[in-house]
Amino acid sequence: MNLIDGKKIASEIKAEIAAEVKEMVAQGHRPPHLAAIIVGHDGASETYVGHKEKGCAEVGFKSTIIRFEEDATEAELLATIKKFNEDPEVDGFIVQLPLPKHIDENKVIEAIDPKKDVDGFHPTNVGRMMIGLPSYISATPFGIMELLKRYKIETAGKHAVVIGRSNIVGRPMANLLSQKGYPGDCTVTVCHSRTKNLKEVCHSADIIIAALGAPEFVTAEMVKEGAVVIDVGITRVKSETSKSGWKLLGDVKFDEVAPKCSYITPVPGGVGATTIVALLTNTLKACKKEIY
Ligand code: GUN
Repeated sequence: MNLIDGKKIASEIKAEIAAEVKEMVAQGHRPPHLAAIIVGHDGASETYVGHKEKGCAEVGFKSTIIRFEEDATEAELLATIKKFNEDPEVDGFIVQLPLPKHIDENKVIEAIDPKKDVDGFHPTNVGRMMIGLPSYISATPFGIMELLKRYKIETAGKHAVVIGRSNIVGRPMANLLSQKGYPGDCTVTVCHSRTKNLKEVCHSADIIIAALGAPEFVTAEMVKEGAVVIDVGITRVKSETSKSGWKLLGDVKFDEVAPKCSYITPVPGGVGATTIVALLTNTLKACKKEIY
């Protein structure tokens, strides 16, 4: 069994980005600039935005955070998006989700210029990704593709089972794995809450992407000997043994599944660790005008 070290891969990618930024700046270019908009004080969102700020500092990017109170209006938010869209000094920006209920999330995402949509959430980027055109790939699918690539995991002709059909993980993952090239060329099955014989389907998988958000859902009996298991879940649950009183659980029952796998990602330290580098990679691409 090989443990896939997401933290190590994230550090490698950050070092590559930092070297490129250093070179750009030495040649007189301004550093890439990532901006973030956050509305309200959601704990998880604050943590994500904090990680983004730290990630930018580590690779030499400029970062800006615009904060709005919970009662900010949709119009105020849209005005800031327009400002970022038009600002040549901002390469890419994100609007942290979820947004308060009185703001229409889809309207906000569609207001972002696809050229600056480094989260890859705009329908233009999703559509371009689907047909294999250059696009910004969103954080989790990007991280998983990098892990497969950098661990040189074979994918051609393999049966990949994606559990979960969310817009931000399951659907793009299934699409990317079915595309031509590497990592791709898989035969993909998408499973969800209405799937029949889910255990049998999973058991026929060479690669399992568990992205349904149900702690320890994937058990040893669902996994074939030698399978590759990628765990996207992160659910915070109460724990009597941990100092903080909480622990993070993945969608895979790690202790019993791991011995059967050729490769497996841990939680934490697996997929999650690579998501921030997606944003940094996309911002660098935006700065270099590589996609559009
Ligand atoms: N909320 C949780 N994850 C994300 C993300 O990747 N991007 C944005 N914008 N919001 C999030």
